[in-house]
Amino acid sequence: MTAKILDGNALAQKLRADFKTRAEALAARGTRPGLAVILVGEDPASQVYVRNKVAACEKAGFHSEKIVYAPDVAPQVVLDRIAELNADPKIHGILVQLPLPKHFDSDAVLEAIAVEKDVDGFHAENVGALMQGQPRFIPCTPYGVMKFFEEAGVDLKGKEAVVIGRSNIVGKPMAMLLLHAGATVTVCHSQTQDLLFHTRRADVLVAAIGKPKFVTAAMVKPGAVVIDVGINRLPDGKLCGDVDFDGVKEVAAAITPVPGGVGPMTITMLLANTLEAAERAAQ
Ligand code: GUN
Repeated sequence: MTAKILDGNALAQKLRADFKTRAEALAARGTRPGLAVILVGEDPASQVYVRNKVAACEKAGFHSEKIVYAPDVAPQVVLDRIAELNADPKIHGILVQLPLPKHFDSDAVLEAIAVEKDVDGFHAENVGALMQGQPRFIPCTPYGVMKFFEEAGVDLKGKEAVVIGRSNIVGKPMAMLLLHAGATVTVCHSQTQDLLFHTRRADVLVAAIGKPKFVTAAMVKPGAVVIDVGINRLPDGKLCGDVDFDGVKEVAAAITPVPGGVGPMTITMLLANTLEAAERAAQ
């Protein structure tokens, strides 16, 4: 079997066409969706992500502000800026790119963002709302993954879903969304004893580990849907995911590629959340 390739660029394009219509309707009522992106430090990967997020806003006709601080900035400077953005009517979404430098209390920074502008969905109140099954903002990467299931017609009810990775950004919210969709969910991580036992049972496998080509064909149940959240840079400069794509595509029923899978969908769902925030603000 050769897997169906789940094309993130195509799905992103389809969704973004709808956003354009909604943004135009908002603009006619005097509101242009606005996103502020804060980057602290010079991490090359974070710089690329932030650049791509701002570029996507511009392309969608959204207002955007990119705010960059030196790695040694005092946390209070960032907190003060967040307070200003919270009060700025041009800004509907605020995103602080993670990870922050070690001298920051990341939770304190995320809690400083107004809940109604927390388009990453990382504020404790929004995390709680998601856990209760009443999400106000769904974290962008797992939200994008759910769109793949919707698009591919994958009914998650009663399915065995295995998530590898337990981060606040991907693994935990992903597990919650799968659970709410009716899947039986297992979250595996670096201390999981028998990873193979779990992955081999998975009808749906989401890899968010951060290790290149970690998931091999032998770990995948024939006919599974495999979602690769990883973005790793190989020594030759090429990007690859957490899944050994060439091997796994011969076993899985469907698979996301890297690049061109989850990546474009993460940014698309950031636009979705920003638009949603602007629509709510305009009501
Ligand atoms: N770092 C890696 N992924 C993300 C994300 O989705 N949002 C933010 N703010 N930082 C990240």
